[in-house]
Order: sequence, then C-alpha cells, then structure tokens
Amino acid sequence: MNRPGRNDTCWCGSGKKYKQCHLAFDQKIEDFERRGYLVPDHKLLKTPAQIEKIKASCKVNIAVLDYVEQHIRAGISTEEINDWVNKITYDMGAVPADLNYEGYPKSVCTSINEQVCHGIPSKDIILKDGDIINVDCSSILDGYFSDSSRMFCIGEVSPEKKKLVDVTKEAVYKGLEQVKPWGFMGDMAEAVQKHVESNGFNVVREIGGHGVGLEFHEDPWVGYRGRRGTGMLLVPGMMFTIEPMVNMGRADVYTSDGDNWAVYTEDGLPSAQWEIQVLVTEDGHEVLSW
Ligand code: MF3
Ligand code: CO
Repeated sequence: MNRPGRNDTCWCGSGKKYKQCHLAFDQKIEDFERRGYLVPDHKLLKTPAQIEKIKASCKVNIAVLDYVEQHIRAGISTEEINDWVNKITYDMGAVPADLNYEGYPKSVCTSINEQVCHGIPSKDIILKDGDIINVDCSSILDGYFSDSSRMFCIGEVSPEKKKLVDVTKEAVYKGLEQVKPWGFMGDMAEAVQKHVESNGFNVVREIGGHGVGLEFHEDPWVGYRGRRGTGMLLVPGMMFTIEPMVNMGRADVYTSDGDNWAVYTEDGLPSAQWEIQVLVTEDGHEVLSW
C-alpha cells in the first residue's frame, strides 16, 4: 500500500492531514495484509464526492428497470426492451454501458430461461407465457457507472421456475446481510452458496460480479462460492455487485458459438440471476442500484 507522510494530505480527497484522516484506517488494513489476507487497494475505495456521482448514475439504472418492470409482457420482442432502455437512458442524459462494451452490439442484456446471461436482444425473440427473463442494465452518467439486473416472470410460470427466481433473489439478500466493514467477501459468498444449494440449485462458477463505479468492471472479481473469513477484506468505500447466476440443474455453462455472447446452461435447464450494486459503509452497507 502506498501511504503518504503523516503530515501530508490524505489520499482520500478530504484535504485533511493524513495523520488526522486515514492513517489509523490504513494501519488496520495493513494489519490484515500482514496476517495474509487479501486487502483492497486505495483505488477501490470511493470518496464521498464519487459516491454522490455514482448514486446519480444508479438513479438512471433504477428508472430504466422500473420502466421495464411496468411494461414487460408476453408478445413483445426483446428488441423492444432494448428500445425502452435506450429511450429512458438517453432521456436522462446517460449512456447505456453495455453498448459497444468489448463489441457488445446492444444496450441491455436479455437472458431467457436456459440463457444464463448476456442474451442479445432481437426482434425475432418474442416473450411468451411461462418464460423467465433477466434484464441486465448498466448506465454511465457523467462518467460514473451503475449496474443491476432483475428477473421477470412472464404470465404463468411453472412453480419450479418461480422457486428458482425467488431463491436466487433471496440468496442475493442473504449475501447482502454479510456485507459489512472488516468482514470478508467469503462471508457473502458462503451465505449465497448455502441458500442456493440448500434449495437444491447450483451457483455458476465461472462468471461473477465485480467492483464498479469509476469503471464498468473493476477489481475485485466477486464469486459466490466461498468460505467465511476468506476472500478480500471488506472496508468502507468499496463498491461491488452481488449477481449470482443460479441454475436449476447442474452448474456447468457454455458460451454460444453463434453470437459469442449468450451463455447457456449445459443441461438446458433454466437459470436465474438478480444483481444489486452495493457500497460498504462505516456501519454496514447501502444498496445503490437494484
Ligand atoms: N451487465 C453485465 C454485468 O453484470 C455485463 C454485461 S457486458 C455486455 O456485469 F457487454 F454483455 F453487455
Ligand atoms: Co455486473
């Protein structure tokens, strides 16, 4: 860790002397590091000014998903969802983060049934009664990033699919309960994994969440298989997504060699995902986008 001199200004942007600001905080982190724990770099800790900007971006993301929630129904195409996302995002002065991200061709991901994530909207994909769909939305406002996703049940879905959707959401909130300063990423991961597996489902291994805010995808990588007291130390100012992908059947997935984006379950059984954007605060956590 790069630390200023005691009388230099603090790295956090407060303008205060380091010794009167984050010196003790940094010492606490270094103690964990000496004991062999993975700790976050200063660049992963958002300042109050940055947090305000990110929250404004999250407002856009939430408004977009609220609109989708109110209008999604059987008979529309996923291209229409993409159109709604574009309209609301640009109307609010933001830009969809997905569009052109590593060549991604659309502004939102729409993943139906056995699609795990990164489904590409198309006018040829029509929602039908009994489908479950994840709409994953990410926005850039003034250079700051937000990222969250929700599941929607179209018409009457089977009890098994409904349970998958519900258990996945519950798992996110079980994980969230574990997010607090001086805890560990593994505390969150273990809670997610336990809830999923005790309901007979499986968490996808290869794809996880991520730090977010100043960039779309920052460190750390956030998995949902883990053990308490392992993984990166959580400290105030860290921001990341909790976004487990949960499969009704086996955990194995593959990426389509057709479009090279959409990820599917290997066994063809349905998959669900909810994503929230979380800030670690002084006394726990705050959900910024959902
Ligand atoms: N929103 C996804 C996430 O949760 C990333 C989508 S990238 C895209 O991290 F290119 F597929 F849009
Ligand atoms: Co994400």
